[in-house]
Amino acid sequence: MILVTGGAGFIGSNFILDWLANSDESVVNLDALTYAGNIGNLSSLAGDSRHIFVHGSINDSALVSSLLERHKPRAVVNFAAESHVDRSIHGPEDFVQTNIVGTFRLLEATLAYVAKQPDRQSFRFLHVSTDEVFGSLNADDPAFDERSQYQPNSPYSASKAASDHMVRAYHHTYGLPVLTTNCSNNYGPYHFPEKLIPLVIHNALKGRPLPLYGDGKQIRDWLYVKDHCRALQRVLEAGIPGQTYNIGGFNERTNLDVVTMVCDVLDELAPKPEGGAYKDQIIFVADRPGHDRRYAINAGRIEAELGWRPAETLESGIRQTVRWYLDNPDWVTAVTSGSYRTWIAKQYA
Ligand code: NAD
Ligand code: DAU
Repeated sequence: MILVTGGAGFIGSNFILDWLANSDESVVNLDALTYAGNIGNLSSLAGDSRHIFVHGSINDSALVSSLLERHKPRAVVNFAAESHVDRSIHGPEDFVQTNIVGTFRLLEATLAYVAKQPDRQSFRFLHVSTDEVFGSLNADDPAFDERSQYQPNSPYSASKAASDHMVRAYHHTYGLPVLTTNCSNNYGPYHFPEKLIPLVIHNALKGRPLPLYGDGKQIRDWLYVKDHCRALQRVLEAGIPGQTYNIGGFNERTNLDVVTMVCDVLDELAPKPEGGAYKDQIIFVADRPGHDRRYAINAGRIEAELGWRPAETLESGIRQTVRWYLDNPDWVTAVTSGSYRTWIAKQYA
């Protein structure tokens, strides 16, 4: 049994689906179902007794403690977070509450539970974090590795950095067997269309503008979500407690390149009835305040020590992603109704 938090979100739901496709070990999934959480992502598990869904928050210490005592998991995998940089700029409070206070409460409850276990050293607390904690790189800087200095620039990355430090401290001070991963930009099925790639697919098909911030030449490293999930499984299996692991896709591209790739695949798989190219819908809009220019990941440690490499190229991953969105219009309709519209109106006013 493992306890997954935030398992109704983008990466968490992909993780649970992959986990239960490859193992019979049950999952307790604790998710607060914020705007980003969608239990429909896990509808294929309906009636599957290996998936126990609990609607609640990592900030609720009593609930977390009772789940730990009742289900006696051998590991906690913490995905629960506020994850969108632009939302953190409009309203940082939720990021402090969930990412910092929530992770702290989860650590406290876990430590109390683990202290009572006969074999506490075999327990694992896997904290899923981001490359954004390292700040922004110049064009010719080497990629982030596990020794890179923390220099978070947005309220989101600052809150994740704070949570990483708490996780580290619970290992160093109390001996909790923790693992932290710092991953680059994910994309793939169930990605909420506030993030660049699913936003572009959604807007393109609706005939709406494809907004690129600033000059569109910011660089990100892109990783297909299922490759991230396989990396997390590998870290959980064989990672060394107290160690951190950078995870990346070996795919540094400008935002303009990525959006153009998505448009080209759409031209092929869902050509516009009226003719013309989707990339003609690209527009340049006001830049994100404090926008990090470049992220790049050196994933040498996880490759050398745990034998992990991504299976997908950016080309194959984008193709599968576009295909998934074309095949799942009902999912897109469900998540883009209601509060989604309020957010888009506010962000792109
Ligand atoms: P997401 O926003 O899609 O999902 C977050 C999930 O957490 C949602 O289901 C939400 O309901 C849940 N949640 C929020 N607050 C909660 C709380 N207090 N208690 C319980 N559940 C709560 O995020 P994601 O993109 O799937 O990211 C998951 C994790 O991976 C985050 O910690 C994020 O920082 C990290 N990460 C994301 C990326 C990426 O590219 N998306 C890359 C690296 C790391
Ligand atoms: O690097 C890992 C991080 O990747 C994760 O920790 C975050 O949770 C995740 O949201 C993601 O952060 P980004 O800010 O990089 O992702 P986003 O999809 O929001 O933006 C990707 C790039 O595209 C970024 O440079 C901003 C730009 N962008 C984004 C949007 C939504 C645009 O140009 N236009 C847009 O409309």
